[in-house]
Order: sequence, then C-alpha cells, then structure tokens
Amino acid sequence: MSATLITGIGELVTNDGSLGDGSPLGIVRDAALVVEGERVAWVGEATGAPAADKCVDVGGRAVVPGFVDSHTHLVFAGERSAEFAARMAGESYTGGGIMTTVGATRAATRDELRANTRRLADEMLALGTTTIEVKSGYGLTVADEVKLLEVARGFTSETTFLGAHVVPAEYAGDRAAYIALVTGEMLEACAPLARWIDVFCDTGAFDEDETRAVLSAGIAAGLLPRLHGNQLEHGPGVRLAVEFGAASVDHCAHLTDDDIAALRDSDVVATLLPGADFATRSSYPDARALLDAGVTVALATDCNPGSSYVTSMPLCISLAVREMRMTPAEALYAATAGGAAALRRGDVGHLSPGACADLAVLEAPNHIHLAYRPAGRVVAQLWSGGTQAFQVAAGREVNRRVGGTYRDCCPDDTTTG
Ligand code: NIG
Ligand code: FE
Repeated sequence: MSATLITGIGELVTNDGSLGDGSPLGIVRDAALVVEGERVAWVGEATGAPAADKCVDVGGRAVVPGFVDSHTHLVFAGERSAEFAARMAGESYTGGGIMTTVGATRAATRDELRANTRRLADEMLALGTTTIEVKSGYGLTVADEVKLLEVARGFTSETTFLGAHVVPAEYAGDRAAYIALVTGEMLEACAPLARWIDVFCDTGAFDEDETRAVLSAGIAAGLLPRLHGNQLEHGPGVRLAVEFGAASVDHCAHLTDDDIAALRDSDVVATLLPGADFATRSSYPDARALLDAGVTVALATDCNPGSSYVTSMPLCISLAVREMRMTPAEALYAATAGGAAALRRGDVGHLSPGACADLAVLEAPNHIHLAYRPAGRVVAQLWSGGTQAFQVAAGREVNRRVGGTYRDCCPDDTTTG
C-alpha cells in the first residue's frame, strides 16, 4: 500500500485531545500527516515524519478533518423561493410548505432526483464536507419513500427513514391510518434501505404518542433512533430522544433547563442547525447553555428546499460563532467530531492514526478563518478516503477526481450502539 506524506502543515486540527496542544482540537503546529490507503497512518511534528512514497507540501496552510454533515434532506425536487421571500416579508415558518416539496418529489423520476442530489452533494464536497446523512420524508407513500431512500443510498450509507415528516394531505382526516402505514407497510419496505429512524416531533407535525409509536416500530425493525425536536416550539422532543436513547436530537431551538440537564446526563447529541434558524428568521438555539452544561453539540446544514437551502458547513460555522456565541474551536469541533458523534461514527470527524483520511487543506493559516471569512473559498484541497478529491488553483477548482459520493472508507469502525 503506498503512503503519502502531507507536510508543511502550519496548523493541524486532529480533534484528538491526547495530541498536540492538549485542547479538544488537539492542534499540532508545523505538522505532517501520513495517508496510507484510505486511512491516516501517522500524525505529528513534521521534523519527526517517517519516509513515504509521495510527498505533498501544503505550504504552511491549516488542515482540518472533513466536515460531517449529520442532518440533510438532500433528495427532493423543486424549490420554494417564494416561501422564503414571504418569510423575509414577515410570514413565519410552520412546516406547511413541506407538502409542496412532496408534490414535486412524487412527480420526479429517480434520475431527476439523482441529478439534483448529485448537484447538491458536489456543492457540499467543494465546501469541505466528506460525510453526509440523508433523510427521506418528501415521498410519504410506500413507493415514494422507497424511491427517495434508494436514491440516497447511492450517495451515503447514513440514510434515515423519515416517513413521519408530516401527515400527507390524503390522510389529513385519519392521522391514525397514516401512523399505521408508517409503522407497518412503509417501515417494512424502507427499513432495509435505512440505518436510522427519525420523526418530526413538533407542533403541527407529530405529537408525543405518535412519535413514540414510530420510534418504537423503527427500533423493533432494527433502525437506530434520531429525532427532529423543539424546532418550532417547546415540546417533548428532547425528553423522548433521551428516553429512547437517540443518537441525536436536532434543532433544539426551544429548550428548558430540564431539557439541558437531561441531555447533559445522556449520550444524546444536540444537533444545531443554524442555517434553518437563519433562513426562517427564527431565534437561534442557546448553544452556550448547552456547551457550558457539557452537552455534546453538533452542527449540520439541514439542507432542504424549505427551511434551509444551505449546503455550506463553513457558513454554519460562521453563524454558530457570530450568532450563537460558540468559539471558532467549538464550532469546528461540532461540525466534525460533533457530527461524527451524532452519527455514532468512530472513524470520521478526527485525524488520529487509524481514522478515515478525510481532510480539508484550508487556504488559511488556521481554523479561525472558517468563521472569520464567511462565504470565502476557504477550502484549498480536499482529501476523501485517502484520495485527493480536488484542489483549488487561482480561485478555481481543478483536478477533481471523485464526485460527491459519500461512502464508508472504514466501515469496520462504524459503531452501531
Ligand atoms: O428540518 N422540520 C422539519 N423538516 C425540515 C424542513 C422541511 C421543509 O420545510 O421542507 C427541517 O427544517
Ligand atoms: Fe431537518
């Protein structure tokens, strides 16, 4: 197996607190890293680097783990710009537009959905994301949810069955019948295509009893729970996520002290989605209260055509720092190691030896530039699973070698607990 030495790294963020400066980011200065096959084989100070077959000098730039975007709704058709404009003129977000996207998505072919997902996944890759989760939830019939998950599986193994996104119009008069479908025939068809079960547990979506029914059925079918909760109003989302041992509860815009204490005493990650708060002009979650309590926080894009048409993890980092008072270090950690924790993945989100060689070389001397230079082209070079995916020269992407397809580089390390 050939080894490549990446050297001349001004600042290497490993996310391994036992390395370098001992901070959670585990920063090693004047560093080097050896990639062997798909994995990181060695990290340390450049002066002590072992010999390798090839050498890439990154000229003093910073290197960070590739972003882990643990919450996206990437498979959809159509767009809802008029809804966005109405919100900016004062309308509030209720989730009511979801059925508009369901209509367009049901009418789309697999090829059309694949092409749109490819476009967005490529955009994410260009912005430094090397792992994505993708949810269903814009089909809401057995055949359409299967269609969405089949498309999603072409891009990632982190697929989530979200049949309980909203009750579709044709079941408006009989919610119980829709829950029976989601927990019965739809789950049976979708479970083989998904790793996760998710429910939009919020005002106007699904209540506590319905959420319990869907999570219980999903877990019985072998899926692992995660939850949309506490986005629109305070509700039972966090409490249920803790009770069901969910990997993550996502949004968390309306939390009580009890919710924060429950998260602190659990393994549930609080995933914050500042793109959604930004694009719905809603209040941001209290990230400081969560972090100061010791809760593990993740940042993700929530990319979808309604509440957050955002593919950029660097933008989420900027918003987290500017609007949610996270430090640049906390925001980067949440966008990498936090996302990995929200997906229960030990192989991504860090750069210690043995990890997936997923890394971004920044056009910057340190990681602070991710927040400091919002919307700038901060990623100069991306490595995904030990392969250089692209590099940027004179402001343009050149040398793209792989498309935005996110596969496991080290599936053996995936934790399923
Ligand atoms: O996470 N909250 C529920 N689902 C998505 C929004 C979906 C949509 O508006 O199309 C979210 O924000
Ligand atoms: Fe979402």
